[in-house]
Amino acid sequence: MEILIRDTPEASAQVAADVVSKIIRERANLVLGLATGGTPLRMYQELIRMHQAGKLSFQNCTTFNLDEYVGLPPEDERSYNHYMRSNLFDRVDLDPAQTHLPDGDAPDLREACRDYEQKIKDAGGIDLQVLGIGANGHIGFNEPTGSLASRTWVKILSEQTIRDNSVYFDNPEEVPRHVVTMGISTIMEARHCLLLASGAKKANAVRRMIEGAVSASCPASILQMHPRVTVVLDEEAAYLLAVKEHYKWIERNKLDWQRY
Ligand code: PGA
Repeated sequence: MEILIRDTPEASAQVAADVVSKIIRERANLVLGLATGGTPLRMYQELIRMHQAGKLSFQNCTTFNLDEYVGLPPEDERSYNHYMRSNLFDRVDLDPAQTHLPDGDAPDLREACRDYEQKIKDAGGIDLQVLGIGANGHIGFNEPTGSLASRTWVKILSEQTIRDNSVYFDNPEEVPRHVVTMGISTIMEARHCLLLASGAKKANAVRRMIEGAVSASCPASILQMHPRVTVVLDEEAAYLLAVKEHYKWIERNKLDWQRY
């Protein structure tokens, strides 16, 4: 894993936006995996700013989001479909036909999951997958102890995630219990993963992901088995890492072999 630590959430969002914009400029017909939640918002704002300044075009990108709530139609403002349109899609030059989210409102969810996997495959697979991490170590909505071999599927949210996400709803009872999420295998097939974490409430999950045992108890720890992961942290999210200074030393000396 490449671990990049910055002093503030603003500085880490800038690093993440630089990683994403670089690959968009370099690769024609990029397939970009996207995430929702509070963490990537600053990065999206920076990407929009680059676009408005005429420095970045999404015209040749195809996007696939990680997850969606079951039972919230796209026009529901608490849906991730709505989140993506208001926080990125409607504010850049992405072709709406090239944007995809799992269909949590489909009459047959299993078929919708199979269809989503097929669409990713037909697009040639995901080049760069943006990820957040839950306080319990989930990636996408793959909650602890779910299969590490999973593909896009319907999951039940944990009580902790329902509590964490209830800030976006009028009360916790309104948070859907079910979601459709890319599976762990789907995420692991992305060619490059970019995971962002910010704030002290993520520090324990970040420590378990990077320095703990690979285990379904912390689904993000499977990323230790991925050949190309960039983790961008602010100091608060990094504060429990045992060898934080080592990661900083590596970055200062640019010893990451992938650069050569
Ligand atoms: P957050 O969620 O960015 O809202 O903290 C991240 C996640 O649950 O994956």
